[in-house]
Amino acid sequence: MNADQLSATSARAIGLDVDALTIRGGKPLQGRIEMKGAKNLVTKAMVAALLADTPSELRSVPAISDVRVVRGLLEIHGVAVETLGDTMRLDPANVESAHETSINAHAGSSRIPILFCGPLLHRLGEAFIPDLGGCHIGDRPIDYHLDVLRNFGAVVEKLPTGIRMTAPGGLHGAKVELPYPSVGATEQVLLTATLAKGRTELQNAAVEPEIMDLIAILQKMGAEIQVDTDRTIRIEGVDRLVGYSHTALFDRNEAASWACAALATGGDIFVGGARQPEMTTFLNVYRKVGGRFEIEDDGIRFWHPGGDLKPVVVETDVHPGFMTDWQQPLVVALAKAKGISIVHETVYEQRFGFTDALRDMGATIQIHTECLGSHACRFGQRNYEHSAVIAGPVMLHGTDIVVPDLRGGFSHLVAALTAEGSSRISNVGIIARGYERFIEKLSVLGADFDVDG
Ligand code: EPU
Repeated sequence: MNADQLSATSARAIGLDVDALTIRGGKPLQGRIEMKGAKNLVTKAMVAALLADTPSELRSVPAISDVRVVRGLLEIHGVAVETLGDTMRLDPANVESAHETSINAHAGSSRIPILFCGPLLHRLGEAFIPDLGGCHIGDRPIDYHLDVLRNFGAVVEKLPTGIRMTAPGGLHGAKVELPYPSVGATEQVLLTATLAKGRTELQNAAVEPEIMDLIAILQKMGAEIQVDTDRTIRIEGVDRLVGYSHTALFDRNEAASWACAALATGGDIFVGGARQPEMTTFLNVYRKVGGRFEIEDDGIRFWHPGGDLKPVVVETDVHPGFMTDWQQPLVVALAKAKGISIVHETVYEQRFGFTDALRDMGATIQIHTECLGSHACRFGQRNYEHSAVIAGPVMLHGTDIVVPDLRGGFSHLVAALTAEGSSRISNVGIIARGYERFIEKLSVLGADFDVDG
């Protein structure tokens, strides 16, 4: 199926051409849904295919718009991409430069283009990235990425339209210490170092499961990568890499989101494809709040057992901590818990914007600039509103909401599903960036809603 056929048949199911939903709340979500590969791995695995000189095959690719964006960017760089069901084949035999205007047109609001730089510098000696988008959840700078690339020998030139990079002397191994264990900057190092000349040592690396899965893919391609216990990653550059065949790790962020939807709506959802090891921290918190779960070989069942939910104190952190992408739908469930909960966000400085809409719906949530967790984080002294105090239980009431970002948007869906009365949620296309076929899934789970437009 080509890109046009794909867009014609599935855009509506994906949620791309849907602008708004009217949700009538109060119905528990019940049923079974299936997870596919993680957005935050699949998009990077697609970029990794650029490093090889033979085709790669990636399985369990979700139908989400971030995958489409990366596919478009690969295609304009000469990579032949075919999909059959959820399997994607990527052939990088004819990689070529793309025009700035097409890169700009295809990049959309994604932040993935920054990860094209290392592979393109290896393949073509040059790369261009437009001004980057992504969800507006803080400043989201790319300074670590640019420093990393400069360390490898890239020459970085800032233009009015974006950033151009060249590697006149090729890329060589480097010693890098990240100021913070950034997921993206760690991936930048991995994707650049594998074909760089010589040895690379990365200190203070992020070791999220999606990164470990990317390392597994690179190892299949012929890369030499060692992860030490102190989060130092050592990479020995090799001369060539071959294509990989890989089934992507499931999307644990999506799994946690539906788990919270079950809890907040008083429902019972079996999340097919979810696995325990990557979610142990989430499961601990889920149990503390009063949710139940049952681990099966083919997924995890999440449900609300009845009675009061309990308040918790949670701090988001890098792996193996509680993920920043898990807190938004959890906050909706915490608004229903009896007592005071605290969520201290330590990964992004501005990730509580979504609570404005929850307050409009009747939630009692205060946002503070102090670190309200057990340790002071790097945002505490800088006046960022990054700690939330949630007092419950409250009954939310329906309202109109314009979705601000991916995870916040999903939490607004959950809030509307639990609320008394109806809510009109617009700009829901943004949710399709990372939640595969969420409209179909809402139907399967028995949600009461209409698609507007
Ligand atoms: N940071 C910098 N400079 C940089 C890069 C990062 O200051 O050059 C800061 C960020 O501003 C942030 C912190 O470092 O405060 C962590 O950012 P990180 O680089 O780890 O995040 P990312 O790679 O941009 C990925 C996911 C996010 C997820 C985070 C944390 C993708 C495409 N995005 O972002 O996912 O929240 O890691 O796990 O993989 C989402 O899925 O909704 C999402 C936002």
